[in-house]
Amino acid sequence: MAPEFHNPISRAIRAEDAADTLSRYRGSQERGADEYAAMVETFYDLITDFYEYAWGRSFHFAPAKDGTSFEEAIAAHQRFLGETMTLKPGMTVLDVGCGVGGPQRAIAKRFGCSIVGLNISEYQLGKCAAYNAEAGLDDLCSVLHGDFMAIPAEDGSFDAAYHIEAIPHAPDKTAAYTEIFRVLRPGAVFAGYDWCVTPLYDGGNPEHRELKQRIEYGNALPQIASFADIVDGLREAGFERIETHDRAADADPRTPWYRPLQSSGQFLGGLPRSALGRRITSAALSVLESVRAVPKGSRATAEVLNVAADSLVAAGRLGIFTPMYYHTARKRY
Ligand SMILES: C[S@@+](CC[C@H](N)C(=O)[O-])C[C@H]1O[C@@H](n2cnc3c(N)ncnc32)[C@H](O)[C@@H]1O
Repeated sequence: MAPEFHNPISRAIRAEDAADTLSRYRGSQERGADEYAAMVETFYDLITDFYEYAWGRSFHFAPAKDGTSFEEAIAAHQRFLGETMTLKPGMTVLDVGCGVGGPQRAIAKRFGCSIVGLNISEYQLGKCAAYNAEAGLDDLCSVLHGDFMAIPAEDGSFDAAYHIEAIPHAPDKTAAYTEIFRVLRPGAVFAGYDWCVTPLYDGGNPEHRELKQRIEYGNALPQIASFADIVDGLREAGFERIETHDRAADADPRTPWYRPLQSSGQFLGGLPRSALGRRITSAALSVLESVRAVPKGSRATAEVLNVAADSLVAAGRLGIFTPMYYHTARKRY
């Protein structure tokens, strides 16, 4: 058997089902918003273990300052949200689309609040619960299986909510924000980082359009929003906007958010997410798949991730896309 790290397909999927899951992912991606749930579930069933291997337990980007490590930048991006929401012990907070819980555990530990991690992916949620227990954070961190388009929680149950790169998966932003608004108590703050095209994006430019489509295809997204979609969606849901800005601009120009996808930097651990590491993985998978040492569909799954990474880097370089359009908004009393 090939080393586990070469295989982009998670243990959520039986080897014999890998190719079929990939084809269901592609089909749901073509059908878009109508099949958002199947799109997200098949995507994360396929790639969660590989994300963890290449990226760690926090599945998001971060603006880096020169001299800070990848891990420090990720931690600072999470801390920024906790500070912005003035989280405190005794508060009950909703993490919307919690992944395997890297941000949930870091924020709960730092601010002492209780955090409920909501996720539509049962596979990720199982991992999240296991990691919470392993970290001894069961008293602060719990999990909730469900869809953020219909949150299984009572009205007004949370003192704050945040999402880190989860609502880009929503088929309808205003509807997602309206659900979050419902489960917050009056006066509560909702903060987040969303994926957006920037004002430099030109829908009449074929290169821009293609990059946008490739990012959507490689990341299980129905439709990438504009800054105005976020601002309008929050307002339509009833939120009062406190602040919005593109945190990509907070990075050192020498270390933009997409840099970890380009080069491994000074740390060998960064190799799997770098362009070179991804090419090595793809080549190795071709060979391994031909001798049936990895499931059929492994190389094609790695290619989906390569499309994602290459198009993110290209769109980042052109300045037409950001994965960190930040907002804080309040549910009025
Ligand atoms: C890019 S990952 C980010 C995960 C986590 N916030 C982090 O930063 O590590 C997006 C997450 O949103 C979750 N998600 C996507 N659509 C969802 C939905 N409709 N309801 C609940 N969770 C969803 C995915 O399963 C995944 O965990």
